[in-house]
Amino acid sequence: MLSTQNISLSYGKRVLFDEVSINFTKGNCYGIIGANGAGKSTFLKILSGEIEPNKGIVSLSPNERLSMLKQNQHEYNEFTVLNTVLIGNKKMWDIQQQKMRCI
Ligand SMILES: Nc1ncnc2c1ncn2[C@@H]1O[C@H](COP(=O)(O)OP(=O)(O)O)[C@@H](O)[C@H]1O
Ligand SMILES: [Mg+2]
Repeated sequence: MLSTQNISLSYGKRVLFDEVSINFTKGNCYGIIGANGAGKSTFLKILSGEIEPNKGIVSLSPNERLSMLKQNQHEYNEFTVLNTVLIGNKKMWDIQQQKMRCI
């Protein structure tokens, strides 16, 4: 399970998150919705560890991993859907590429 505890983040006076605690539980699909500038991308970056919040923690259950694709809709045009998903996990993708070079 992926969860956050008391995530807070501000940019200057702009408070994006104030003590956000949430559990993303197995078997569910989640969408993050909000107006432009509400903080959706920033929240995903916090979840993936790309940026650190001012306060709070993100936790992932042991033996689970998180992959994230960047928000550029044309960045993966030359890849199949399967490979695009694999690219989200860089370590796995690099190993896959190495494996393919050996065949
Ligand atoms: N590195 C940063 N420094 C200062 N302000 C930022 C930074 N990143 C995002 N912001 C601001 O935080 C707010 C949320 O941005 P963002 O997460 O990209 O929103 P969304 O994805 O919901 O459109 C916006 O007002 C944006 O200008
Ligand atoms: Mg965004």
